[in-house]
Amino acid sequence: MKGIILAGGSATRLYPLSKALSKQMMPVYDKPMIYYPLSTLMLAGIKEVLIISTPRDLPMFEELLGTGEMLGMSFQYQVQEIPNGLAQAFVLGADFLAGDSACLILGDNLFYGQGFTPMLHQAVRRCNAGGASIFGYFVKDPRAYGVVDFDEDGKVLSIEEKPTNPKSHYAVPGLYFYDATVVEKAKSLKPSLRGEYEITDLNKLYLADGKLNVELFGRGFAWLDTGNCDSLLEASNFVATIQNRQGFYVSCIEEIAWRNGWISSEQLKELGMAQSKTAYGQYLIDLIQS
Ligand code: G1P
Repeated sequence: MKGIILAGGSATRLYPLSKALSKQMMPVYDKPMIYYPLSTLMLAGIKEVLIISTPRDLPMFEELLGTGEMLGMSFQYQVQEIPNGLAQAFVLGADFLAGDSACLILGDNLFYGQGFTPMLHQAVRRCNAGGASIFGYFVKDPRAYGVVDFDEDGKVLSIEEKPTNPKSHYAVPGLYFYDATVVEKAKSLKPSLRGEYEITDLNKLYLADGKLNVELFGRGFAWLDTGNCDSLLEASNFVATIQNRQGFYVSCIEEIAWRNGWISSEQLKELGMAQSKTAYGQYLIDLIQS
């Protein structure tokens, strides 16, 4: 399975912050936002990642993340000229995927909680066997999201994009797992009324085939949004609270690469030394002794 991070869009709700800078490059406490979705792909065991962004912002992501080699990974970069929908990620990423299954994560989605890694591994296994896996997260007001409705056995009944009258309280986070038919399905989509190739329409194709699984995150799990200034600050405070209390870093990509066995202790130490003037760099160095 390969991974795609969609880090495009104009993020007008964050103006003037995002007027000249990609939203997914903004700090969430002590790291650029894109570290968080990248860490999710890494926890899923995905080593090959395509980063999609605007012509303006893509070079900056390339400068930040490079080839991926330093993490024992491989990164590729793809421009999205027009922000015309999440499902376009698979059309743009067709050559990169080259017939493999795919996980798409939105560049501004933060996930944190116990039991996340096993859930990710299960989603990978399920999709490699055929079908799609999405997630459901209970929110007070789901109208701004994709909303999934399901029966007592967890069988998906419907999925709707930003419904005025949602059939459930379960919002669909920006994390999707698909089998190898995803490119062909994405190519068959038509733009919605708002002119976008909707991820929800792609999910509906899997639902029609009886191949859309939903996994629910429990109430102790955090799925954070960073759509406006308040939620951006809340996400920063959340990460700071956990890190300062536990001393473990949230979404530390170097640590995950090391724990996954993708880089050696020597390589981790080098990455720490390169930024040793910061608590972040020191954390990496200390990990080896722990
Ligand atoms: C997109 C999807 C929506 C999903 C959300 C998650 O919405 O269209 O289904 O629930 O991401 O963040 P957008 O951010 O484009 O409004």
